[in-house]
Amino acid sequence: MQIITEPGQMQVIAEKLRLNRQLIAVVMTMGALHEGHLSLIKLARQSAGTVILTIFVNPMQFAPTEELHRYPRPFEQDVALARSAGVDYLFAPEVSSIYPDHFQTTLQCGALGEHFEGKLRPGHFNGVATVVSKLFNITKPHRAIFGEKDAQQLAIISQLVTDLNMEVTIVPAPIVREENGLAVSSRNIYLSSDERNKAGILYQGLCHAEKRMAGDERNLQTIAREVEEIISSTPGCRTDYVNFVDAISFELAETAEKGKEYRLLVAAICGSTRLIDNLRIRA
Ligand code: PAF
Repeated sequence: MQIITEPGQMQVIAEKLRLNRQLIAVVMTMGALHEGHLSLIKLARQSAGTVILTIFVNPMQFAPTEELHRYPRPFEQDVALARSAGVDYLFAPEVSSIYPDHFQTTLQCGALGEHFEGKLRPGHFNGVATVVSKLFNITKPHRAIFGEKDAQQLAIISQLVTDLNMEVTIVPAPIVREENGLAVSSRNIYLSSDERNKAGILYQGLCHAEKRMAGDERNLQTIAREVEEIISSTPGCRTDYVNFVDAISFELAETAEKGKEYRLLVAAICGSTRLIDNLRIRA
């Protein structure tokens, strides 16, 4: 595995790979790799001959109130994990080479970036869209793997690629779950073992919704309220939002149409840790 820090050098390598007809898959991360990231790398390995992993803690997607400097950066550990997962190139640039002096062009995501996670973190998705576009231009992938765990991010990046006519295929990767159903996430390290056990309730709520829809309940608001009750009845857990959206447009959905796909989005606070989860459900 080769470690590259300079965008120019990464571009030259990617260009050569393309000229040699190598298929490139990219996995973009902010490091602190866990099982979820490793599953993305595995999918990338299966879908292309060359795998590029990017590690970059993107300042532009952090709000001034969020503690960018406290974000975990276990670089040596990440290098070892990436190597054993079969990554070919690890691109880990410095902030100054991604955002040099006089950098000023940023992307605006529009309505898709303003609700749910975007409401809580204004500007967050503009920062994500900007850095993802830059990383696409630097790594020149044919395929890019993004986890369904961050469903809104996945929807925004899919829209970005369509809107800006980018020649990259977005490959969604299924959520990796712990034994109790808790979605694997960088934030899980902030949960105590008791909170970690209890946080499995989010997945139980999602599964309840799936059963209710299979049982022909069409009122999505009724189901969402039931899921809210299930989560909030667990001591130490409370919901931030529980909403059904159209699986593609991410528009709020109130009544289920037979055969159509929806995504149930959940954000909840367990102890003092905010967690998100979701499930794609066909009515
Ligand atoms: O999902 C993440 O880790 C980040 O938002 C991403 C896509 C790497 C952009 O910084």
